[in-house]
Amino acid sequence: MKILNIGSLNIDKTYSVKRFVQPKETIQALKYEEFCGGKGLNQSVALARAGAEVYHAGAVGADGALLVNMLENSGVHTDHLLKTAGASGHAVIQIDESGQNNIIICGGANRELTKEYIDSVLGHFGPEDLLLLQNETSNVGYAIGKAKEKGMTVALNPSPADDAIKSFPLSLVDYFIINELEGRELAGIESEEPEKIMAALLEKFPGAHFVLTLGENGAYYFDGGKKAFHDIFRVKAVDTTGAGDTFCGYFIAGLSKGLDVETILAQASAASAISVGRKGAAPGIPTMAEVKEFLERN
Ligand code: RIB
Repeated sequence: MKILNIGSLNIDKTYSVKRFVQPKETIQALKYEEFCGGKGLNQSVALARAGAEVYHAGAVGADGALLVNMLENSGVHTDHLLKTAGASGHAVIQIDESGQNNIIICGGANRELTKEYIDSVLGHFGPEDLLLLQNETSNVGYAIGKAKEKGMTVALNPSPADDAIKSFPLSLVDYFIINELEGRELAGIESEEPEKIMAALLEKFPGAHFVLTLGENGAYYFDGGKKAFHDIFRVKAVDTTGAGDTFCGYFIAGLSKGLDVETILAQASAASAISVGRKGAAPGIPTMAEVKEFLERN
């Protein structure tokens, strides 16, 4: 199975701060660094480092060489990448002393994916292949519909959650990789109880498969016939940016290799824990060898 990830690529402009800036306040950053990021790029890097065959489609601007290099050096196929004349997408990220982040994204080239471009990329893939999408690029809903017309499996990480998601043909999605907030929004319920969120999601999308990540409280896989859970590995957080993307990439990689769900959740949880202990979104993503070594020790 080949994996096509049509997703964002961002230059992460990252400010280490003692604590997040408040309204009307000006604060001094402790450090400024730039990393490769974007939910799409992070997930492709995680997929490749987990050993999957992944093709990244998306767009970079004239300043995007470091993003393309990151993908290629990680083993991601970049044949279908689009190069535009404008600026690449970027993110402004604050990391506080506890490793938590807040993020503003600015779309740039990520918003230049046209329906024609998506059609031309999908032309290289077929029913044995999987399309992975997030919510940081243009025409995501269109890509879902077209991929299903071709018989592809579709996995959606609807992140960051916003109103655009409601216009996507969500009933066509085979795999949802979601956090608690996204789960509540998709299910259309207020409850914060995982059991209620899971029940509501299955009622709304009975044929779909779900991964529900609950931060400190672990992660569930569930579908109409199966449910599995894995707790998090507790590590000291240095930078949580990209931890969810690492989990998502490792999960899809495990699926593509036909591993059982319990093994996939363990590997994805370990990969995510390792990434939390490292600086930067894409640079912090571990290889499968590192994940296996971590699992032997923990
Ligand atoms: O999920 C983390 C990512 O979100 C960052 O790399 C940033 O670019 C934003 O897309």
